[in-house]
Amino acid sequence: MTSGGDSPGMNPAVRAITRTGINNGLEIIGIENGYQGIYDNQFIPLGALEVSGKIRDSGTFLATSRCKRMREAEGPSDAVRILKEKNIDALVVIGGDGSLTGATKLHELGFPVIGLPGTIDNDIYGTDIGIGVDTALNTIIHLVDMVKATAASHRRCFVIEVMGRNCGYLALMSTVTTGSQVAVIPEYRYNMESIIAALNRRMERKHNNSVIIVAEGVCSGQEFMKRMEEAGKGRLQQEVRLTVLGHVQRGGSPTHYDRLLATRMGELAVLALMQGESGSMVGLSQGKMQLRDFEQILGKKKALPSDATRLARNMGIEIGDTVET
Ligand code: F6P
Repeated sequence: MTSGGDSPGMNPAVRAITRTGINNGLEIIGIENGYQGIYDNQFIPLGALEVSGKIRDSGTFLATSRCKRMREAEGPSDAVRILKEKNIDALVVIGGDGSLTGATKLHELGFPVIGLPGTIDNDIYGTDIGIGVDTALNTIIHLVDMVKATAASHRRCFVIEVMGRNCGYLALMSTVTTGSQVAVIPEYRYNMESIIAALNRRMERKHNNSVIIVAEGVCSGQEFMKRMEEAGKGRLQQEVRLTVLGHVQRGGSPTHYDRLLATRMGELAVLALMQGESGSMVGLSQGKMQLRDFEQILGKKKALPSDATRLARNMGIEIGDTVET
């Protein structure tokens, strides 16, 4: 099952689960539309043919949803009853925090389940990176590069809003890897005065354009523009324009990195279930795949990589001050 927001790499993960399963004598059933598909009887047999070509596709061919019923009191026990009626022995859930919380409930009711981290936000504790993050970042940097071309031609400043809900990973890493000037992220408190001063300094040094990347978790790009225009009235030496990248960030064909990550994670999920494992998520830690218990990871805040602040500051990026948590 794929659940929550789609992420590029979900299809390669379903393919890997299917192929590992059938090559080990198992029968694989896909559940369409996330947890909702359990209640709506959306079960489809998967074989090599059904997953053929899916390694290249973004989105999730199983479809996905954010399911309300799973969060209701009887939701998880109803789901377990239906899964047992369907003769399903174990489940792999690919999704973000909410989806893995649902998976924990099934595990607590005695149903074997393994989770895979599938979200572009990279906010899941217990894995260095989630399925889809690399593709989303590649899409973002491609688009920011394109905005930079027009920024330079018009000597403008652009505010670019990127996804990431409450996590600044996409914004910070795309700022670093596009050579942008400012990252506005939830993990740091931005200082509008320093931002305006930095942009003006750049103009004085004959850099004719600048890019500010705003994580949607701080505020919308539009709201940030408003605050910037108010604070910079008569002092900003450049015109400012806004670009909101939106859902295009989730739509890229999975990169080599995501295809391999999803394949490795999907394979391990099946092997783990075959060995009687349940209640854990497959994560990547320092190059190695490992299983982490749901209770060790859920509800924990994933920090930005430890060298991220230093790296950004040494690149001359304006990120503001650390927010104490
Ligand atoms: O969690 C993935 C994500 O893309 C977030 O970055 C974003 O805030 C959210 O999903 C958008 O959700 P929806 O697709 O429901 O608008």
